[in-house]
Formats: sequence, C-alpha cells, structure tokens
Amino acid sequence: MRLRRVELNDSVLDGVAVGTMTRPSSSRLSGEISLSVPPDEVVFGRSEVMRVVRQKLDKVAGANIPVLIEGESGTGKEIIAKLIHVRSPWDTGPFVKVNCPAIPGTLVESELFGYEKGAFTGANGTKPGRVESAQNGTLFLDEIAELEMGLQAKLLQLLQDGQFCPIGAQEDKRVDVRVVCATNRNLEEEIEQGSFRQDLYYRINVVNIHVPSLRERVVDIPVICDFLRQVYSEKFNRPTRPLSARRLDMMQRYHWPGNIRELENLIKRYVILGSEDAITVELSGGNTSSFIPDIPISGSISLKKVTRQAMREFESKIILKILQTHNWNRKRAASALNISYRALLYKLKEAGVPARKVAGSPQSPELGND
Ligand SMILES: Nc1ncnc2c1ncn2[C@@H]1O[C@H](COP(=O)(O)OP(=O)(O)OP(=O)(O)O)[C@@H](O)[C@H]1O
Ligand SMILES: [Mg+2]
Repeated sequence: MRLRRVELNDSVLDGVAVGTMTRPSSSRLSGEISLSVPPDEVVFGRSEVMRVVRQKLDKVAGANIPVLIEGESGTGKEIIAKLIHVRSPWDTGPFVKVNCPAIPGTLVESELFGYEKGAFTGANGTKPGRVESAQNGTLFLDEIAELEMGLQAKLLQLLQDGQFCPIGAQEDKRVDVRVVCATNRNLEEEIEQGSFRQDLYYRINVVNIHVPSLRERVVDIPVICDFLRQVYSEKFNRPTRPLSARRLDMMQRYHWPGNIRELENLIKRYVILGSEDAITVELSGGNTSSFIPDIPISGSISLKKVTRQAMREFESKIILKILQTHNWNRKRAASALNISYRALLYKLKEAGVPARKVAGSPQSPELGND
C-alpha cells in the first residue's frame, strides 16, 4: 500500500493547526509516513456508505461552496476536510484549522478575526486572525457548535460577503477563503435549543457530508487496521504480524463508540505490547458474552430498535466506566472519551444518570466534581 504524505505544519495554539498542505512528488514519499491523510483505499475502504461520501467529496471539492461535515467523534471528519482542501483549487493555499472549543472563550474573537493596535489593553500591535491567515486557502472550523452566538454573527457576515472586521478596526477586510465546518452534534437540535443561529446553519450547510460511524462500515475495518498497524510498526520500530482472521472478526462485531480514533489507540497498544491479547481483553471488557445483547429469543423483534437499545446500553457502560476511572470528574472523563463536555452531559442525561449525587442513593454516582 502506498502511503501518501501531506505536510501540515502544526502551530502555536493547542488544537489549532496552520499550514500549507502540499502533495509532494512520489519520489519524496519513500520512507515517509504520515497519518494526515491516509490513501484513498484506506479513507474510503470498500463500504457503500463511504462510496457515497467519496462521490460527494469529489463533486464539491472544486466549487467554492461551504461544506458541513457531520459525524460522531473520531469518524475521520478532519481527514475528509483535508481531502476537500487538497482536491480543491485552493490546495496551493493554507489549510487553517480552528478547533473552536480549544481556544479559551475570551480569545476566540481575536484568534479568529485578529485585532488592530490599541484595540484593547495589551494589543501592542496589529495581529491578523486565523480567517486572514486562510487567505486563498481553506478555513476549517472544527466543532462549530461550540462557537458562541456573537461570533456566529461575525462568521455569518464572512460567509455572506467575504468580509469581516478585526477587533478595533475602522473598516472591514475582505478575504477569499473556502470555509469547511465540522460538528459531532446535531445542529438542528442546537437551533431548537437556541444555541445555534438558523441563518448561519443554512450558510454553512450548503453541502452536507455525513461521515458514517465505524460500526456502519465494519467491512472497512481490515484495511484500516492494516494501514494503522504499518504506520505504528514503523513509527515505534516494532515489527508486527497482520491481525488474525479471528481477531478481525471480533473487531467487526464490536460497537466502536470512539470510532476510528478508538481503533487507532487499540492498534497502537497491539503494536507496542506485541500481542493480540490486548485486543481481546479490550474489546470484550474481560467478558466476551457482553457482545451479545439481551434480546427475547422467541416472537418477533425489531432489529433496529433492539440494536439501538443495545448500542445505548453499551455506550452508557463505557461512559460510566470512564467516569469511575476519573473519580466522576466529567470534564476529565469527556476528554478521555474524546467527546465534548456538553456531549457527555447530553449522553448522561439520555442515560438517566443524575447530574448530581442523589442523597441516600448508594447507586447514584457522585457527579458534579468538575
Ligand atoms: N480511514 C482512516 N484510516 C486511518 N486512520 C484514520 C482514518 N480516519 C481517521 N483516522 C484517524 O482517526 C483519528 C480520528 O480522525 P479525525 O480526527 O479525522 O476524526 P474526527 O471525526 O475529526 O474526530 P473528532 O470529532 O473527535 O474531532 C485520527 O487520528 C485520524 O488520523
Ligand atoms: Mg475533529
């Protein structure tokens, strides 16, 4: 399998990457491996659901229209955003990622839109924001649902007429950028709850790409595993054997709440520990029967309903286990699960777990330690 390398110069702020992505000539590829953008056969696999994603991506990459990438955490949304960039006419420009929740609230506006000298105490010079840095390239707004309402209005202006106003500036600035947004939340629900602007939603959602969860594309697990195994074998300098058919079968029956990111972590452990046992123990939680949901064996059942219920139960078990590990600190648990804090609260609510300890109830976890 040929591994393509995409350069991405990470920058300053945690979770924010700025860089120019290039597709180097194949002569520069030898020996160089990067996870930035895996080869097409790994990104898309051979599942029908990913064939649809690929078709859409190929159609929209060339046109300057905003794209909204939706999907659960860890499904590969950022990889799809990078692919849109490298296949677009803006590929010679920078790919600027803004991880909205990673920037402290008070800094978001200045990081995004920049400021003029004297705009506020400490603004000793003019500083361009991420929007301006993305000139002639792609601005990737990750976790867009986390952007607060005031900034949503500024973003709307940028999408409407390509203009924005740095903090303290007298005049608007104009940029030519391609905007791609991603979210693992349901924006329509956010609109209903009043935390996301409907007009902005229509602007960013001109084309919508839904990245399926890993459990919806289990046929792709072997090729992704093999790619990740090669990458990490090389990175950690630990030769490994391809995974056995039995292990792959087990992996294809697992629920993957953390999607490809969880798979990646599992493969890293396999490479480092050098034993498939690490996979078996991890996936079965020490008990392989936990794979079979508790369903009535006689009469008719709704497969969809039973599967959804089993998935929810399984997800709740994992969340509770992680919460326990982190002494019921929800912020740390959310970070360990690679989901946002708000997503964790939502899932806890869905699972009926009380937000605070219920007095006198020994079963209720003591939450609210964050
Ligand atoms: N097809 C793939 N093959 C190999 N690795 C992949 C693939 N898709 C994603 N990954 C890896 O899985 C991890 C998660 O991918 P990515 O960050 O793109 O997901 P995401 O949907 O943006 O996640 P989040 O919602 O948590 O931000 C990354 O380390 C990425 O390199
Ligand atoms: Mg992401």
